[in-house]
Amino acid sequence: MRTMQALALASALAACGPAAVDEARIARADSEPGNWMSHGRTYAEERYSPLDDINRENVSQLGLAWSYEMRVPRAAEATPIVVDGVMYVTSAWSIVYALDAATGAELWVFDPEVPRERGASACCDVGNRGVAVWGGRVYVGTLDGRLIALDARTGAKTWEVVTVDQARPYTITGAPRAARGLVFIGNGGAEYGVRGYVSAYDARSGDLRWRFYTTPNPREPDGAASDSMRDAALATWNPNAGAWLESGGGGTAWDALVYDRDTDTLWIGVGNGSPWNREIRSPSIEGRNNDNLFLSSVVGVDPDTGAYKCHYQETPGETWDYTATQPIILTSLTIEGRERRVLLHAPKNGFFYVIDREDCGLISAGSIATQTWANGVDLNTGRPNENAEARFAADTAIVLPSPFGAHNWHPMSMSRDTGLVYLPVQEMAQDYTSDPAFVYRPGRWNTGTVHAALPTDRATRAAVRNSMRGFLLAWDPVNQREAWRVDLGPPWNGGTLATAGGLVFQGMLDGRFRAYDAATGAQLWEFDNQAATMGGPISYQAGGVQYVASLASDGSLGFLPSGLIVANPRAEPANGRVNVFRIGGTASLPARELVALETPRPPQLRASARTISQGAALYTQFCMVCHGSGVISGGVLPDLRRAGSLQDAIVWRQTVHGARAANGMPDFTQWLDAGDAEAIRAYVASEAAIAYAEERARR
Ligand code: HEC
Repeated sequence: MRTMQALALASALAACGPAAVDEARIARADSEPGNWMSHGRTYAEERYSPLDDINRENVSQLGLAWSYEMRVPRAAEATPIVVDGVMYVTSAWSIVYALDAATGAELWVFDPEVPRERGASACCDVGNRGVAVWGGRVYVGTLDGRLIALDARTGAKTWEVVTVDQARPYTITGAPRAARGLVFIGNGGAEYGVRGYVSAYDARSGDLRWRFYTTPNPREPDGAASDSMRDAALATWNPNAGAWLESGGGGTAWDALVYDRDTDTLWIGVGNGSPWNREIRSPSIEGRNNDNLFLSSVVGVDPDTGAYKCHYQETPGETWDYTATQPIILTSLTIEGRERRVLLHAPKNGFFYVIDREDCGLISAGSIATQTWANGVDLNTGRPNENAEARFAADTAIVLPSPFGAHNWHPMSMSRDTGLVYLPVQEMAQDYTSDPAFVYRPGRWNTGTVHAALPTDRATRAAVRNSMRGFLLAWDPVNQREAWRVDLGPPWNGGTLATAGGLVFQGMLDGRFRAYDAATGAQLWEFDNQAATMGGPISYQAGGVQYVASLASDGSLGFLPSGLIVANPRAEPANGRVNVFRIGGTASLPARELVALETPRPPQLRASARTISQGAALYTQFCMVCHGSGVISGGVLPDLRRAGSLQDAIVWRQTVHGARAANGMPDFTQWLDAGDAEAIRAYVASEAAIAYAEERARR
């Protein structure tokens, strides 16, 4: 009998590999801790590795085992998947790579050939957060809205479906999830004007099984799973007026999708409103609820049918770009002596929520960063105690958190040993003013807000920069209390991994990759990844050896003060990398020099101060999102102060009017005339002149 079982086991193992990844196997992920088979390793997405060969005692000997150079630069944000010695990972432009997990040798590469003009619809660079592996296939969502199934052994395409209306500015950057024989995928694009939803496709055939829209259809039912909630959701919107009637209202589900086996629920993290500004999106009517369901909510649906189960709205009447798409962890906590199945969530709005998985009831909400929009959450009503001043209108409001969030998509992890949750948090203020001249511009940035241009004055800039701070936070979710924190300096740092070795791994914006003592926060190890290390690190085994993997890339910072934070420390943008570590690893990265890029002598434009300030306002409204605030590039897209086209009014105007549209530089012909383009050029030239003079003075 024993031998029979052993034989059965041996043949089961032989049939292993990606072909055998299915729900049962992911559900038993703890019995094969050497694999990382799904996005957060387990369905609960704790991002906790039970491996402990790398631990507090020996982590100082951790060294680079191998490094793989991906084919493109720009944001590498993926969480790699590792199954039986093979790593599946994605780079910018949704390119999928299969690598030997022990050596980094390339097994295959699949490039979905996303048209580069799609980059113009991506708010926050052209990254991708990873694949799902299931039933011998690898699933990837592409920036242009496709879901593609690949043969895990060869990378050959088995099916492909278009999951969005490609005429609209939808994008996919999130990782699909697989369960119940289905593949779940959401989408993004709320800054530009889309209506969010989650779709479930048959993993074998690619047939659409259900769709759940996160905002109601004001005109008619969709014939979708969300129809049962249409009336209830519609009652929280202005049914007759507002830009949402055109944009679709937003609520895109671009990251968290978590399958809960305990309660048989798919949890969806829902994004911000489109436009951001609620009074433009859905003007308030005296006496009528204007919460705008299901924006900024966690929604639970039936995984087989998409039928609504329950929801909790974290930011009612969202108006600050406070998405609730941030990663979700499922766990059980003992609260006031009672064991509760809960989900843990730290969305942009600065609260850390503990939510009951049985009925979406709010159990507690702690504050993890400075918040000025609300002062706590009323546990009886579940509603935030809002600060009325934060609801900006014609008057500017300065609010924390900013649209970057107190916490963004960078995944958090939870240690089963310490019970703590580890996450990057940040404090940055943002000015918001209602856009008095708002018109809905299909396909373009449509937030209904205006923001001040970054002041040119250097002392002011330095003060703004120093006011923005990032931390690694260890949070006790039971007591809603901080256990420890590490001050990381600049904000926008990477996701975390907790391990049974008593460690927390985290990458930083400036490229450092670190290990900390999970109990105390003491820093135990550091490596220079040479580029922003943003995604969730993972740990796995190959050939009996434990590895830790992280991704590094330039880019990943879309908009607003990108340039301020990054200040372009490296030279030309480099391709993304997968950097993998082991104890005693001795590999090294090719040297990357820190070159101060030079600003060429700018053209002498005889523009008036008024024209320059008009140009600054237009730049902030139309260009900043990609080219950086204060015309300081985040390091990947051209720094316009140094652009060749700055020298030539005609080339400049042609660029603004579509000459480079195929490369992702939008065509602004409809909205900016030649005079506008020239005013922006005058502003950029004035910024270039200052940079030029500063560089000369330094020489
Ligand atoms: C959606 C992102 C995006 C926005 C918004 C955007 N750009 Fe660009 N821009 C790009 C990309 C990508 C390129 C690089 C194109 C290429 O490689 O050919 C570029 C290139 C340029 C260049 C050429 C730089 C050179 O090297 O000579 C100019 C000039 C330019 N942009 C001006 C503007 C202006 C002015 C605005 C606002 C009116 C703007 N851009 C808004 C993405 C953007």
